Amino acid sequence: MALRKIREIGDDILNKTCKEITEMTPRLRNLIEDMIDTMYEANGVGLAAPQVGVLKRVVVIDTTGEGPYVFINPRIVESSGEQTGQEGCLSVPGKSGEVTRPNYVKAVALDIDMKPFEVEATELFARAICHELDHLDGHLYVEKVNGELHDVKYDEEDED
Ligand code: NI
Repeated sequence: MALRKIREIGDDILNKTCKEITEMTPRLRNLIEDMIDTMYEANGVGLAAPQVGVLKRVVVIDTTGEGPYVFINPRIVESSGEQTGQEGCLSVPGKSGEVTRPNYVKAVALDIDMKPFEVEATELFARAICHELDHLDGHLYVEKVNGELHDVKYDEEDED
């Protein structure tokens, strides 16, 4: 298990656009494994590559504890509905804020073997997909907060 340092708000790398992935390599597989370890270690439900300093279009998400999803070159192809709730981010420690997101999204991506898959998600999973994909285009949830960010106790927050 290898943990990577999580970049925090203020670090320019979090505002950059990530590059498409064209092939799986041992180095990339290692990055993804480290991202999964780093996400679980930090008690997050999602992590995007720029959060560990790598400008590639890959995110990992686990909102249920049933094992991580790996999304390579993900795209949201459908969305509907609306949900408003608290959101946090491992790159914005100790804070949360209210964000409105679609309640349903359909996403397409490649898995760790570069095979295409499609997933339909609602509620927290849909929120996490939207949040993590925003990271790949250099956006943080703090840009979308309704009202103010507020402080949360570390052991109570639901970070993604
Ligand atoms: Ni985040």
